[in-house]
Amino acid sequence: MLESTLSARRAPPGAEENDGDDESKTRKHAPLHSRLNMLLSPRLGPFTAATTASPSPCLAFAFAVPLLVCFAFVYAYFSRPSTCACVSTHDSLSRIAFLGGGSLEGLASDFGSLGVPWCRSKQGKMVEWTSKDLLKALEEFVPIYETRPIQNNMYGMGFDHSFGLWFMARWLKPDLMIESGAFKGHSTWVLRQARPETRIISLSPRHPEKYLRKGPAYVDVNCTYYAGKDFVDFGNVDWRSVLKKHHITDLSRVLVFFDDHQNELKRVKQALKAGFQNLIFEDNYDTGTGDHYSLRQICDQFYIRGGGHSCFKDGDEARIRMKRKKFWDKAVNINELCGPGEAWWGVRGYMRDDFNHSNKAISYAEHFQNSRFIESILDVYWELSPVAGPSLTHQTRYDPARSSEPIIEDGRFGMFKRLGLTKFDSSVFNGYTQMVYLQISASPS
Ligand SMILES: C[S@@+](CC[C@H](N)C(=O)[O-])C[C@H]1O[C@@H](n2cnc3c(N)ncnc32)[C@H](O)[C@@H]1O
Repeated sequence: MLESTLSARRAPPGAEENDGDDESKTRKHAPLHSRLNMLLSPRLGPFTAATTASPSPCLAFAFAVPLLVCFAFVYAYFSRPSTCACVSTHDSLSRIAFLGGGSLEGLASDFGSLGVPWCRSKQGKMVEWTSKDLLKALEEFVPIYETRPIQNNMYGMGFDHSFGLWFMARWLKPDLMIESGAFKGHSTWVLRQARPETRIISLSPRHPEKYLRKGPAYVDVNCTYYAGKDFVDFGNVDWRSVLKKHHITDLSRVLVFFDDHQNELKRVKQALKAGFQNLIFEDNYDTGTGDHYSLRQICDQFYIRGGGHSCFKDGDEARIRMKRKKFWDKAVNINELCGPGEAWWGVRGYMRDDFNHSNKAISYAEHFQNSRFIESILDVYWELSPVAGPSLTHQTRYDPARSSEPIIEDGRFGMFKRLGLTKFDSSVFNGYTQMVYLQISASPS
């Protein structure tokens, strides 16, 4: 049973892996009419196996008519309107209709089919990098990741987010990098790989050096630690004097990375107050999941394309979610998504904070206002895509239906292999939670 579930995840029906051809995509079955043609063709059809001579046209006709009637029934049954692929998968109503066919095909590879709500920015500004840049950088990052000092970073970042952080730090070329939430130091190491000469400030209640006693950890020589007895929460740091000490005058040249599991609305407000503009959040949890209120949750709104939910227990969303829950550990069913009073926002109507050590029920109106606030200060919102489709990575946790298309699509095994990604244990691909980059600035008023 377990094996059949796993193989269903690994090789979605129709996704064929092609070793040699990088450009190969998921191979589709031939259309029904061409399969019918093949079956009825005198040269290739089943009759040729039984006879060496060509069958007479009458005999072929006698067999063909009942067969045609039979196939017409099968065709009519399987081509019900729900399988129409002519709709935008981001539109809530049409995506429900699109998924309503009851077919298991594509469970692994239907990226974004349950909606991928993105926060709206003030001017609709986009990031400068393209998917081509990401793919090129991926090739460079694989050998770097292989040399990571903490090979098993359980509870910390895996491959996808390590790549995302490294890529953005390298692209943005900040003069100072601030990290909140260091754990054993893996993310500090990633930042260092991206910017060998740039100063890092790391805030974490426990100093990474403490982990060295028990196993691998990373302590950086060009990093100022506010950790252990010197720990100060990001929101309580006197940034003006710290930045002065580091001779930083242009705050647009500072990158702040949060992996501290704090309410992201709170962190955005604190960052805004200090004047920071470039923020990365590692755990951008989807609605109904995670231990803190995230940007993804904040912008999951009915008025956002791909956002909003229905708590109707007999509805299409409930049925689709129930199905997906069997395949993906982090998929949430409708009971997990919706709390009392059909509260689906945040986590069952709660705004979680501090590893869920604290949480607060919020009304739908508050949730809505939070989104409008974020929009008012947002210049750029960009979610990292997963590095590769699940038939390649064998990841079993995040549900592709709630994330954007991967950098390497399912079926492109040749590319996955050529980039060296086959050498990693599948567990390093299990930590994807929509890492997000934000550019913020106060509205001129
Ligand atoms: C998930 S771990 C970070 C993983 C790390 N970034 C990595 O990639 O390996 C979360 C870290 O946040 C720390 N933390 C808890 N509260 C914090 C706070 N208020 N500010 C900064 N870090 C905090 C925890 O002690 C823990 O080390």
